[in-house]
Amino acid sequence: MAARRPRIVVVGGGRLGGALALSLSAQRWPVSVLSRTQEGRGRVQALGLKPATPRELEQARVALLCVPEKAVPEVAREMARTLGRGAALVHCAGALSLQALGTPRGRPLGSFHPLCAVSDPRDSLAGHAVAISTRSRTLKAVLRQMAKGLELQVLEVSERHRAAYHAGAVLSAGGAVALMSAAVEALGQAGIPGDAALAALLPLMKSSVRGMEARGLARGLTGPVVRGDAGVVGAHLAALSPEVAEVYRLLSQRALRLIGSRLPPEALDDLTKLLFER
Ligand SMILES: NC(=O)c1ccc[n+]([C@@H]2O[C@H](COP(=O)([O-])OP(=O)(O)OC[C@H]3O[C@@H](n4cnc5c(N)ncnc54)[C@H](OP(=O)(O)O)[C@@H]3O)[C@@H](O)[C@H]2O)c1
Repeated sequence: MAARRPRIVVVGGGRLGGALALSLSAQRWPVSVLSRTQEGRGRVQALGLKPATPRELEQARVALLCVPEKAVPEVAREMARTLGRGAALVHCAGALSLQALGTPRGRPLGSFHPLCAVSDPRDSLAGHAVAISTRSRTLKAVLRQMAKGLELQVLEVSERHRAAYHAGAVLSAGGAVALMSAAVEALGQAGIPGDAALAALLPLMKSSVRGMEARGLARGLTGPVVRGDAGVVGAHLAALSPEVAEVYRLLSQRALRLIGSRLPPEALDDLTKLLFER
């Protein structure tokens, strides 16, 4: 099963389903897409993808469920009735355990969750990571083969730790957006309109991401905590609205944990008092 490219049916031709199907077919995987509606099938064909036929459903070795979380149990039940013998059911939802797929007899179950914010089916997945989970060795080999073909770096996530894993993923994506909204609000207090603030802060955030890419977390960190400057941090806390100040305080506490051991003892002491003692 692992050496050849097994036939895949992607269920749901939305953002992720479209992106996975496009990338897999670009790598010459035999892939078709199952849509619920005529409109969905039209969308799939407009992307140059192949709508799934009954024969393809019968022959598929893996069904990749790219449907909303709420629909996964129902779609899994439906596919368990439709697919050929032994075909695997795999969902792509980071938040769901394998239990969401039910307990269909004789079907390997798995999860394949790309750590990528896909807002259009034409978005590229290459260079991102994917979290995989399955108890089947055969299916794991196939999911790893798919990841390799899609240029995704594999993380194996146990079912027990799935919630913590997904929380981390959400923090780094939606969390970064929420953080930016706090930064935009702070610039608003300085009289800078939202659009102009976002346009000014995005390149700054990107340069910070490049710093992490090049040098890791601790050495990628910049700002007054790294410089051991409790005076500046205190002035920031006093200037911000209470809600944004709370965000700033929590993030500065994390920054201090990252680099505190590198600071002179006096600076570490001042920052610890300011940030942790109230
Ligand atoms: N987008 C991302 O960045 C991303 C990243 C990682 C994981 N995921 C996961 O991928 C899954 C799909 O997310 P998405 O962003 O691709 O969503 P989406 O763009 O809304 O696409 C979901 C597709 O599922 C089908 N669908 C919708 N409601 C359904 C229902 N009730 N029953 C059966 N099929 C239904 C539709 O396709 P048809 O019209 O073709 O049937 C729809 O286009 C979710 O579990 C999500 O957590 C998404």
